Amino acid sequence: MDSTFFDSKRPWSRYKDFLLKSYLEPYIPKVASLKRPILIVDCFAGMGRFKDGEEGSPLIIADAIQRWSEKLDVNITGEFIEANSEIFGSLQQSLEEFHDFCTPRLGTFDETLIDLEKQAKRNTVFLYVDPYTVKGLRFERMKKVFDQISKSSSSVEVLMNFNIPIFMRWALAALKRLNEMPDSEELEPEADDPNETVERRILSEIAGGDYWISIASNDNLSFSEKIDEFLNAYVCKLRESFKYVCSYPVKEKYRHQVPKYVMLFATGHPDGILLMNDFMCKARREFVEQHFAVNHLFDTTPEEEIVEQSELRNEILNTLNQFSSPRNRKAVGLKILLNGFVTRVTLGEIKKEISAMIKDDLVFSSTGKSRINDTVLLSTTPFE
Ligand SMILES: C[S@@+](CC[C@H](N)C(=O)[O-])C[C@H]1O[C@@H](n2cnc3c(N)ncnc32)[C@H](O)[C@@H]1O
Repeated sequence: MDSTFFDSKRPWSRYKDFLLKSYLEPYIPKVASLKRPILIVDCFAGMGRFKDGEEGSPLIIADAIQRWSEKLDVNITGEFIEANSEIFGSLQQSLEEFHDFCTPRLGTFDETLIDLEKQAKRNTVFLYVDPYTVKGLRFERMKKVFDQISKSSSSVEVLMNFNIPIFMRWALAALKRLNEMPDSEELEPEADDPNETVERRILSEIAGGDYWISIASNDNLSFSEKIDEFLNAYVCKLRESFKYVCSYPVKEKYRHQVPKYVMLFATGHPDGILLMNDFMCKARREFVEQHFAVNHLFDTTPEEEIVEQSELRNEILNTLNQFSSPRNRKAVGLKILLNGFVTRVTLGEIKKEISAMIKDDLVFSSTGKSRINDTVLLSTTPFE
């Protein structure tokens, strides 16, 4: 364990906090309409507050629960799991003022999983999974819980931090290919020991299969390409349990090829992905703005960060043409995002462009109007 972890928050940690905080705001009132109690579980909770005074995830969650509990007629509770007894003591203190609805639990994520399965029968569940070390994430054990929760509960969503670079480094070490590691400042693990040897069996348990071996030993892929490939494969694994999964790689500097970690979000509900995408877009744009002179006389924003109107219009037309019958704009927006536009464009921007295309007679609405709501059908040919 890195004893300095809780001294002060790393700049790149703010992105995971931002996604958690932003998403809980619309999430809580939305799932409250299901009329089931809501349970938010911080599976690797930490101290609650960093030593420099900054809020950690437990306080972000507790604050959201407190605010929404006052406004909504639904029971909202939080559980906070922490394995380290010393850190647990600080966690208890941090959550003291929220003790009516926040329960810290000393134990490991794994140990709590069984209890979680039971609780899920009555609750709508949101899991925040933010381990130091990848080793805490054993895929099959988590999958069992995800599947059990989905069976028994009307809603389960997961926001997870996965340190894929360290996983890939361990994978290369296990395959005796460490010489392929880029010699770079980018891979600076926080808590995991990069020089540790992790058995192949453990790596397969984390990945949920041995597919990582062919990725890590592919001579045609660079280290960062291996990370991308592994991410795609892991997302597919999550899709066995969740209909919608999206990811956001958090980098320290724009020029870096290797992310610090990847935030993964999994949900069974389309609204979940539409909302999270908006926040991932915002995070990405703020990150880009910090690195480039956006809005100055000479905007230096890299091309790949800009979605040109023509690109979006083509995508809207292609998407509409892929459907066998007219669809509403929410369905069109969702398909566009899942086709590779997550973190690049918001649902609002897609909607705006659809309205503009209706005015230009490129897209047609079933009402014949360009100001439409989410139920109006769309087509690339005029309605009779
Ligand atoms: C990255 S920190 C969490 C930081 C926290 N999310 C925040 O924003 O402040 C991970 C925490 O998980 C704890 N931990 C490690 N292994 C665990 C396990 N198996 N189950 C639960 N907690 C664990 C560590 O002691 C550490 O405090």
